[in-house]
Amino acid sequence: MQCRVFQTYRPVGMMNGFHMLDDERIPMTSTTARVAIVTGGARGIGEAIARRLAADGCAVAVVDLREQQAAETAQSIRDDGGTAIAIGADVSDEAAVAACVARVADALGAPAILVNNAGILRDNLLFKMTSDDWDQVLDVHLRGAFLMTRAVQKHMVDAGWGRVVNLSSTSALGNRGQVNYSAAKAGIQGFTKTLAIELGRFGITANAIAPGFIETDMTRETAARVGVSFEDFVAGAIAQIPVGRAGAPADIAAAASFFCAEGAGFTSGQVLYVAGGPTA
Ligand code: NAI
Repeated sequence: MQCRVFQTYRPVGMMNGFHMLDDERIPMTSTTARVAIVTGGARGIGEAIARRLAADGCAVAVVDLREQQAAETAQSIRDDGGTAIAIGADVSDEAAVAACVARVADALGAPAILVNNAGILRDNLLFKMTSDDWDQVLDVHLRGAFLMTRAVQKHMVDAGWGRVVNLSSTSALGNRGQVNYSAAKAGIQGFTKTLAIELGRFGITANAIAPGFIETDMTRETAARVGVSFEDFVAGAIAQIPVGRAGAPADIAAAASFFCAEGAGFTSGQVLYVAGGPTA
């Protein structure tokens, strides 16, 4: 139960269909849930992280452009006994981000954990890449992580505790056809290290996970785009992976769970390659 904590957090009561905080009825020493936000939490790696943090005892806000799918993920977490809400938001939209974080604070309490996972691909070789392909990828990954972290950090600073986990990628080291994505994912690493330096004194850690090949809709869509069956695409990836299998979203969720744990408070500014072998 890594997200449970003796703190000034308050136990949850019910209001307006959400689990709400209730300052009046709660002893300060109650064991209560940390509030976690997972962007891009509707499916894939984000969904697995949201499920894992809920299983660890967090109250989770599943934030995604795909509002309906986010709602289904949150419902399924609640069906399993967890606490979760869904919020439809575009992480690259400043006003949407502000509204989203305010809603999480209202519905669940001050966010203490932020996982910047939302992502898109717009792959192409440099000479064919449009400015829009470049801008969209940088907007979602980098601007999105920046806007979300800036909006959430105030709650973490006030609480004197926080965990930021950012999704990088092995593509940060360079990958043909991904000049935009690779720049964004390398940028995420610098962003993470600077967050660690700036926010460490407030009890906040920031770390990045750089996954290798993970079987999700994102990699499925890439296979379809290059005209290869997903089975062949996965087999090609596995041939390069020392542990001899593709990654699963749960592999990344396990790393996120560690970074968010109470005991990871001295681990900050790190980039963990979760790729089935040595990468960097
Ligand atoms: P996915 O495409 O299955 O899921 C991404 C989610 O992000 C989707 O639900 C999508 O709706 C959401 N999203 C996209 N743009 C958004 C926006 N502007 N605002 C809010 N939500 C938005 O992708 P997957 O595979 O689960 O990847 C998750 C993260 O892990 C991404 O950052 C990706 O770049 C990274 N990653 C994935 C790898 C893989 O092999 N699948 C490898 C390395 C990194």
